[in-house]
Amino acid sequence: MKKIQIAPSTDPCPIKDLTKYVKEVEGCGADLIHCDIMDGKFVPKRTFDYMVLAFLRKVTKLKLDVHMMVSEPLKVAKDFAKYGADMITIHYEAFHDKIQLVGAIQSIKRLGVKVGVAIKPTTPVKCLDNILKFVDLVLVMSVEPGKSGQEFIKDSLVKIAYLSKKRTEENLDFLIEVDGGINTINASIIAVSGADILVSGSVIYNSPDKKKTIDEMHGKYLV
Ligand code: DX5
Ligand code: ZN
Repeated sequence: MKKIQIAPSTDPCPIKDLTKYVKEVEGCGADLIHCDIMDGKFVPKRTFDYMVLAFLRKVTKLKLDVHMMVSEPLKVAKDFAKYGADMITIHYEAFHDKIQLVGAIQSIKRLGVKVGVAIKPTTPVKCLDNILKFVDLVLVMSVEPGKSGQEFIKDSLVKIAYLSKKRTEENLDFLIEVDGGINTINASIIAVSGADILVSGSVIYNSPDKKKTIDEMHGKYLV
């Protein structure tokens, strides 16, 4: 079986502790860092701007996977790309129509970063049918975006399997990332459904043994 990648998210960690946390999870076997950017409009909470990302860029060799939970991603993408993002994922729901969305994907690609598209739990996965060929990654939100610590929505497994099948049928190569409510128990079924990257916020952040938790999410102890 392919190795699943584990991406600890920045959301549960206070900004003042972020560089320390990022170094810690890198030492514990994380594969990439999932940076949750919230603008107080697309979701109620506000997080950090590109200047904090620039600090993170200096402390880790891991790829920075930026999840833009913002209403106007094109306004901020340039600075995030310039200051260290490797991948920028924008929300399907932030756009009025698909033409605008594809335009935004292409503009962000021109900044020299990989581009992903995210869907909320209430957005049908089929909405992405004509978009898949334009993106490097699809992010399936398995909780309502906005905060860590919620329960995994099981219907997300059907979306993951649909995307995995589509990818094979259409000979595409986007990655499937899943974000929200992932723990050491459900990680394996999410991976088996077709996910490539599992984002984890509260479970890794609150774990007293982060290496063991990340190893378990990697499936290290599965027989
Ligand atoms: C939620 C964020 C997630 C969050 C996941 O809106 O996009 O990345 O940090 O946290 P958990 O794993 O606790 O659900
Ligand atoms: Zn996220």
